[in-house]
Amino acid sequence: MPSQLELMDRWGIRGLLGHGWAALMLAAGLAAPPVMAASTQERMVPCLACHGETGQSRIENTPSLGAQQPAYTLIQLFMFREKLRKSEIMNQMAKDFTDDDLRTVSDYLAALPKPQAAENGAIDRMQRAQVLAQKEHCNSCHNADFSGRDNIPRLAGQREDYLAKTLREYKNNTRAGYDGTMSEVLQPVTDAEIADLAYYLAHLSSKSEH
Ligand code: HEC
Ligand code: HEC
Repeated sequence: MPSQLELMDRWGIRGLLGHGWAALMLAAGLAAPPVMAASTQERMVPCLACHGETGQSRIENTPSLGAQQPAYTLIQLFMFREKLRKSEIMNQMAKDFTDDDLRTVSDYLAALPKPQAAENGAIDRMQRAQVLAQKEHCNSCHNADFSGRDNIPRLAGQREDYLAKTLREYKNNTRAGYDGTMSEVLQPVTDAEIADLAYYLAHLSSKSEH
């Protein structure tokens, strides 16, 4: 499994090759094609190298994006572009996107298959976390089967490590949401409970595709 840095290197090299090619075209008196002219599918190649071609990420702390709610993805990409949500990689990846690009990418990701839930969740831990999720109303916003809706993300089948990391970041306010909802929701939730919730959601399979 390639590490994030290895992938960055790979795309860094790709970027250089791209520029070299554009320079050759200019030297030959041809106009370089605009960067955005590439098909959406080509432009998604580096994204999916990290996030998973089938919508399912195989890389640590990197979220699966398949069947994610497009309104949610759009807001997150906007926040990455404007550096309102901080992630070195994602701030860089989103920086040259136009608003139309953000929409195209969000719709593309929404059409990928939803991620497969992790198998064999321990029944007692799943039950404990389900009670907690109901008590904290996670299911009333994120949908009963955690498939999400509108600007509220799908959580079912998401990677456990990413879920735990991002929940901790909301709680300590290092991840900014488009509003303060998630930080507020998590204030009474302990770190051990966050671990249980992440485990539960990663092992949960949603019924609906979208
Ligand atoms: C080198 C690996 C890498 C590449 C390339 C990459 N991403 Fe990401 N992406 C990440 C990581 C890591 C995160 C999680 C950031 C965090 O922890 O907040 C992320 C987060 C995201 C999120 C937020 C998901 C959520 O559930 O909140 C979206 C949307 C996203 N990336 C889309 C893209 C798109 C579109 C591209 C291509 C233009 C792309 N990514 C390229 C690693 C990558
Ligand atoms: C009042 C509605 C509401 C409730 C209750 C709620 N959420 Fe959320 N949740 C949201 C919204 C809106 C977002 C997107 C926030 C943003 O812009 O970052 C979100 C984002 C998230 C994310 C980020 C997903 C990703 O892909 O990065 C996770 C994880 C999450 N919620 C888990 C939970 C859990 C666990 C609970 C219960 C303890 C919960 N939520 C309760 C509305 C809610």
